[in-house]
Amino acid sequence: MDFKLTEEHIMIRDAARDFAKNELLPGVIERDEKQSFPTEQVKKMGELGFLGMMVSPDYGGGGMDTISYVLAMEELSKIDASSSVIVSVNNSLVCWGLETYGTKEQKDKYLEKLATGESIGAFCLSEPEAGSDATSQKTTAIDKGDHYVLNGTKNWITNGNSADYYLVIAQTDREKKHKGINAFIVEKGWDGFEVGPKEQKLGIRGSDTHTLNFNDVKVPKENRIGDDGFGFKFAMKTLSGGRIGIAAQALGIASGAYELAREYSKIRKAFGTEICNHQAIAFKLADMYTEIHAARHLVMQAAWDKDQGNNYDMSGAMAKLHASRTAMNASVEAVQIHGGNGYVKEYHVERLMRDAKITQIYEGTSEIQKIVISRGLLKD
Ligand code: CAA
Ligand code: FAD
Repeated sequence: MDFKLTEEHIMIRDAARDFAKNELLPGVIERDEKQSFPTEQVKKMGELGFLGMMVSPDYGGGGMDTISYVLAMEELSKIDASSSVIVSVNNSLVCWGLETYGTKEQKDKYLEKLATGESIGAFCLSEPEAGSDATSQKTTAIDKGDHYVLNGTKNWITNGNSADYYLVIAQTDREKKHKGINAFIVEKGWDGFEVGPKEQKLGIRGSDTHTLNFNDVKVPKENRIGDDGFGFKFAMKTLSGGRIGIAAQALGIASGAYELAREYSKIRKAFGTEICNHQAIAFKLADMYTEIHAARHLVMQAAWDKDQGNNYDMSGAMAKLHASRTAMNASVEAVQIHGGNGYVKEYHVERLMRDAKITQIYEGTSEIQKIVISRGLLKD
């Protein structure tokens, strides 16, 4: 492994850091409170290239590596995890899947718009009865010759209302179980496609999470991704990379919380001295920093594996498992270090604590990451 950052990496990290400070920080508390989607900020992120970082320049992307992507994800997430999840879904779940497995026609039609932020994407795997148990798809896509007919419900969909294009996983042939699942590109506004209610959430409240209903939606055959029956593998392969993005998001939440706590501990006085001079507080900072340092190594390892063409199923799962635990621990400790101020909105750490929790749930819960890791360990 060689994690020496290039000049380009440093430039991207600093650009993301500046953007987060100058464009995401203002209004972040209000967006969280009102659950308002960061429309203006997403538009600017598109213009700056954050929505299609790894996509080839042939399709309007940045042509960057995964290391650049995780560096940017960490910086954006230090300030606003609601905005960074939009970046993560668009980059790693939508653009990557389309670029890697889509046909030339599909890429010509959809990828450039998604990579430049002109359009936004969503990834629709979860259902009311198929969350962790993702092969239990109830949504059906019946083959009608030149098109499929899609029926069913997807829930918890990030960018659910704000997206223009949706990658939808559905069961075509139940007899074949997961080998009878397909993935489709569905456009917003098609007959029978309905965006359901917005979820009222604990954290990442600026991102819009919706249920989607499909009632006899006609999907042209050319919108199927990959060969017949490839849909479940498509979802799994895409999620393996997605988990690296969420691990970087968790790392960002953890380091954002740590940085705020460290600064606060140097100015807040109790018992005649700055609280960082109390060993109980200094040791909390030491534990936080150590866990974050380990998380950063795991995230970089997974990103490096992906860039080198190594298998990254396990390293991505380990990075997500550890970084999300670190985000939870560090944000709880950051609230503690802030005392009463930690419990109110203006100090930001309570929001980071609420945002941290989702990183242990989406793109595979921590229990699912342990399944992936342990199966990897035990396989011959
Ligand atoms: N790459 C390629 N293929 C894979 C794979 C991978 N990483 N993981 C599994 N597969 C294949 C298997 O090889 C198998 O195919 P074959 O029979 O041809 O060998 C097939 O998929 C089924 O695999 P399993 O038998 O392992 O299936 P399982 O039922 O035991 O489940 C699981 C495996 C890992 C638990 C999977 O169901 C899973 O990942 N669940 C979690 C779902 C999830 O992460 N959802 C996230 C939704 S998106 C999201 O959350 C976005 C957001 O919030 C922002
Ligand atoms: P369940 O699968 O019902 O799990 C409940 C509990 O049981 C969990 O603790 C789980 O770990 C545990 N469990 C389940 N099976 C096992 C097992 N075999 N061994 C041990 N423990 C187990 N999905 C999308 O497709 N696209 C999105 O864009 C998207 N965005 C999301 C955004 C938000 C804010 C949220 C909350 C969710 C989002 N999801 C999305 C869905 C998310 O991926 C699922 O919530 C997640 O995969 C868990 O599924 P579930 O909620 O059905 O929980």
